[in-house]
Amino acid sequence: MPLNPSIKVLFITPEITPLLKTGGLADVSAALPAALREYNVDVRVLLPGYPRVMDCLKDKRLLAILADVGVHGEVKLLQAKLPGSGVPLLVIDYPLFYERDGGPYIDHNGHDWVDNAQRFALLSKVGAILGSSKSPLTWHPDIVQCNDWQSGLTPAYLHFSPAPGAATIMTIHNMAFQGTFPASLTTPLGLPASSYSINGVEYYGQLSFLKAGLFYANHITTVSPTYAEEIQEEPLGFGMQGLLAHRYLDLTGIVNGIDRHEWNPATDKLLPHNYSAGDLAGKAANKRALQHKLGLTEDPDIPLLGIISRLTHQKGLDLLPAIAPFLLEYPVQIVILGSGESGLEESFLHLAQSHPDQVAAVIGFNEALSHQIEAGADIFLMPSRFEPCGLNQMYSQCYGTPPIVHATGGLVDTVVDATPENIANGTATGFIFTHATTHGLNECIHRALDIYRDQPTWRKIQSNGMRRDFSWNRSAEEYLALYEMILKSA
Ligand code: ADP
Ligand code: GLC
Repeated sequence: MPLNPSIKVLFITPEITPLLKTGGLADVSAALPAALREYNVDVRVLLPGYPRVMDCLKDKRLLAILADVGVHGEVKLLQAKLPGSGVPLLVIDYPLFYERDGGPYIDHNGHDWVDNAQRFALLSKVGAILGSSKSPLTWHPDIVQCNDWQSGLTPAYLHFSPAPGAATIMTIHNMAFQGTFPASLTTPLGLPASSYSINGVEYYGQLSFLKAGLFYANHITTVSPTYAEEIQEEPLGFGMQGLLAHRYLDLTGIVNGIDRHEWNPATDKLLPHNYSAGDLAGKAANKRALQHKLGLTEDPDIPLLGIISRLTHQKGLDLLPAIAPFLLEYPVQIVILGSGESGLEESFLHLAQSHPDQVAAVIGFNEALSHQIEAGADIFLMPSRFEPCGLNQMYSQCYGTPPIVHATGGLVDTVVDATPENIANGTATGFIFTHATTHGLNECIHRALDIYRDQPTWRKIQSNGMRRDFSWNRSAEEYLALYEMILKSA
């Protein structure tokens, strides 16, 4: 195992499990730094002090007061440890920007906070200060790793700071979110006017935080090799395919891992019954408990399809309501946990009302129920139109719940299709369909249901998935090799 005690990494994120989570980035932000620390990488995580962060971190203490950050008044930097893993956290205490009710990015009405540009420029700026020679800390990172647009300005700020500064990595979790704001904010946010150019932060007449990161970072990573290819072309490059194709030598795809402490059916405390690949009796008991809890017919033999998702265009779940009435003529049950677009929420609620014995729809975010669905369902549905990595398809395989996925991004990199050949050679773990259409999804669901009826084959597919290694160690080793490569060439 390569050990390099000297590498210091500042990992900047807008969300982290268990303090605040809107999606997979929160899980990655907690688990990857913890895994890297096992490899002796000194990773510290920088994040905004939202109310939940401030409330949960009982051990926080003042580390520094930052001057010259481009905002009114004092910005305090606090130090704490992430509950559970103990990963060191650096928290930006600036109540004017972060201490408010609502989500980290949107208000109660679902609108972006009007000052998001300023809020996340501050996160980016503090990251850049800590990576520069102006840092008030004695701890100086060798690498600053930025995650998504919220920290996209860090590489730009560092580029325009006096040397020496840390090397930068821009990690893309989703090209669809780019942080675009009026061009007139470029200089008020502390960037030189000259940076507003095609060779800089400009993106179709606006200032883009993500473009800034992609242009100025020393290296770019994304969360699967297939997505790294896809974003170099239309449509998944979302307008930045040219820049990404130009920088392809600096672009690396590394698949996320999953947190095996949180997601392990043998030890999961959120499940009524634990189980393992060797003994699936507990899985059947979880299915019964889930059917009971959600008021579905309690029948062990009816295949139960599970969904846990943000309900957005990306996730492709709008394909389901069109085929569901035909599908529900078969003995099939569907459980949906999610929230998002109101039209989709309504169609799932409507489906549940019209088929109360077969369909349950829970709108909202519910961590415990998400574990219970992974364990209690027979099949997991993830028809994402695009998916940079995706976590649930990996959770599903570990929980003996073969996933049905569209052939995109991290889904193709982590699921092995149950073709006759892959079933025969013992590698099949799920079902992949090529076209994100109602027809494609429908055919794939029926292909899975046919195999489900052949229980000995089904058991093999379950067991292949449950035995796969999705731990963070593999990814952490790849990141470590990348850090070493970047530092060698810096
Ligand atoms: P994304 O980040 O694009 O939403 P991922 O698959 O990477 O997709 O991660 C989504 C994470 O959020 C998973 O851990 C999933 O279990 C969780 N999740 C999504 N919606 C819900 C929900 N309604 N309740 C509980 N967990 C959810
Ligand atoms: C994004 C992507 C998802 C990925 C997650 C963590 O939210 O949509 O595919 O798993 O980030 O990297």
